[in-house]
Amino acid sequence: MTDLYAVMGNPIGHSKSPQIHTAFAKITDQNMLYSAILVPLDGFDTAVDDFFRRGGKGLNITVPFKEDAWRYADKFTARAQRAEAVNTLQKLEDGTVLADNTDGVGMVRDIMVNQGVTIEGKRVLILGAGGAVRGILQPLLEQKPASVTLANRTVSKAEALANDFADLGDITVSGFAEVAGQFDLIINGTSASLAGELPPVPATCITPDTVSYDMMYGAETTVFNQWALDLGAAKAIDGLGMLVEQAAEAFLLWRDVRPATEGVMSAIREDRRR
Ligand code: ATR
Repeated sequence: MTDLYAVMGNPIGHSKSPQIHTAFAKITDQNMLYSAILVPLDGFDTAVDDFFRRGGKGLNITVPFKEDAWRYADKFTARAQRAEAVNTLQKLEDGTVLADNTDGVGMVRDIMVNQGVTIEGKRVLILGAGGAVRGILQPLLEQKPASVTLANRTVSKAEALANDFADLGDITVSGFAEVAGQFDLIINGTSASLAGELPPVPATCITPDTVSYDMMYGAETTVFNQWALDLGAAKAIDGLGMLVEQAAEAFLLWRDVRPATEGVMSAIREDRRR
């Protein structure tokens, strides 16, 4: 019996998830088929119902359906409940649907395991206060950074987010230009990179030990990572590792085995160079 999995989104043509999960299935010798499904903007619930009715076991959910998936599910992991957005669904034996959000844990794993960068005791600056940042806050705060500053173009959104997570740790809120002090780790969770734009934070944030992390990735170094490198940051990391690690965490939930990620990451980097 081949188990069925898929990623749903709109658009979906450029998703790397089929390539990643097909490689994981091969490495771990799992009998499964993973496809990409383009879902109409008003057709999410129907598409998911259909998929599970056909015997589907699990789904990844991407833009713009992560909040719809949160509403669709019956049960939640703690991190999905916090994120109010979901990138992974699993059909359970009893017929209910479990939701998880593996984005944050994937990012933290990429930073710590793949990149060897410690978060505990570090001064962390996060840029952005949208869904992407909400998704990473719990796993990040669990690492016990020395301080977390959350800066956003719309400051009230950063304030609301800081309030929602106040029980997990203190978060200092500000606008971009008002960010004060130096940081060990700066995470760009805004979608500014998509437009080739740069959140206007002061250059004084960067030290020779600063690591910058852009949750986006592309063929070229992102504008944000280039900015950090130009100011002498120690290291700039893009979102490819996060993409592959969030997939590995979803695979672990579904199949109870954690695939090695290194080979898949270098294969995608290699493709991108061609
Ligand atoms: P996502 O799911 O990617 O987080 P989102 O919830 O729409 O998408 O959030 C986008 C984030 O990027 C927000 O923090 C947004 O800032 P606002 O809250 O002020 O809208 C930020 N953002 C988008 N374009 C930006 C730009 N050009 N410069 C700075 N921040 C930007």
